[in-house]
Amino acid sequence: MKRILLTGGAGYIGSHTCLELLKRNYNITVLDSFVNSSRDSLERVIKVLETKIPNVRKKIELKIGDIRDAVFLEKIFRNNQFSKNFDGVIHFCGLKSVNESNIKPAEYWDVNVLGTINLIKFMKTYNCDTLVFSSSATVYGDSNLIPISEDQIKKPINTYGKTKAVIEEILFDLSKAPDFNLKIAILRYFNPAGADGSGLLGEYPINKPNNIFPLLSRAALSKNKTFEIFGNDWPTIDGTCIRDYIHVTDLAEGHISSLEFLFKNKPQVACFNLGIGEGVSVLELVKIFQQVNQVKFPIKFSPRREGDVAITIAENRKAKNLLNWKPKKSIYDMCSDEFTWQKKFLQKNKN
Ligand code: NAD
Ligand code: UD1
Repeated sequence: MKRILLTGGAGYIGSHTCLELLKRNYNITVLDSFVNSSRDSLERVIKVLETKIPNVRKKIELKIGDIRDAVFLEKIFRNNQFSKNFDGVIHFCGLKSVNESNIKPAEYWDVNVLGTINLIKFMKTYNCDTLVFSSSATVYGDSNLIPISEDQIKKPINTYGKTKAVIEEILFDLSKAPDFNLKIAILRYFNPAGADGSGLLGEYPINKPNNIFPLLSRAALSKNKTFEIFGNDWPTIDGTCIRDYIHVTDLAEGHISSLEFLFKNKPQVACFNLGIGEGVSVLELVKIFQQVNQVKFPIKFSPRREGDVAITIAENRKAKNLLNWKPKKSIYDMCSDEFTWQKKFLQKNKN
């Protein structure tokens, strides 16, 4: 039975990946400081599975602490309830707000880059050779070659994106070292959206969301809230930005496919775009969201948001071909699953 460490495993993408790993009988250890999540997300994972997997709670180990804390990290690698070294690590943990990264750059470099270096050191000491790293399409910056393939030049335009690009460079540098024996998959996510189809698990952030999906739900659930569309003068079909949204469950499955790909293959560093390979404009998304969920809310066009780009769409053939992975869920599923979840989440956190 394979054993995986998930740093940041209580977060949005991490918790959905915990769920999919447990469904496939992996044992998991979650490392999280809860700076942008809480224990609740893991309780929800257990709730989804408790009638399906006997003693599911025993398959999860939780370690609360900061990835930059070397003493804490060493203990996780040294002692564990499963009496077995980790077969692999999925490294989700990090700070992810573009805006905040420009306001608190030192914190972003510290958590994202130093946190990763700390992790790699202990993987080496404890002979763990398999790493899946959460990168982002934001590393491409404002690309005008659409769809975006993995070999495009990286030109990140904000501090968050720069930290991801630098971590990628560190991982590539490692592969040039003579004693290199790591197997690394760098996953560049496009726009993750939606929630688990059970309706019991979804994004549970501590910090205020800025992304479009949670904001659409908020507009739908509050009376008189106008949804702002940032810009209607972009060079696109209807003047609004186009994005490649991917269901969080498809994304979670992409991590498992990546682990399995690495287990079977020789040491290497490989990058994969995870997106569905199709673009949807903001205006189209608003219409689909309203139609699927039978809701109405007013919209208004505001000026462009700083740091936005017109179009991002993934070229996802590499992931499909090499990882034996295929996104299965549509933009309709994302809108429906997101709203089912957000209705519960916002209700619970009303006060
Ligand atoms: P998230 O904030 O929900 O999850 C990150 C988790 O890491 C949280 O649970 C947080 O508490 C934890 N964490 C943060 N700093 C920590 C520290 N110093 N020590 C220990 N734990 C810490 O974010 P997410 O949406 O699940 O994203 C996961 C990863 O994917 C991140 O690296 C993010 O940059 C990347 N990513 C996310 C998106 C997205 O839209 N969600 C897109 C592209 C890339
Ligand atoms: C943002 C981040 C990106 C990160 C990604 C996933 C920025 C500039 N980029 O991407 O680095 O990888 O999230 O977490 O923050 N929109 C509106 N009204 C709203 C909210 C959003 O019109 O109230 C529009 C945006 O202008 C954008 C689209 O919706 O065109 C998607 O926005 P968002 O969900 O924030 O994702 P990105 O900006 O693509």
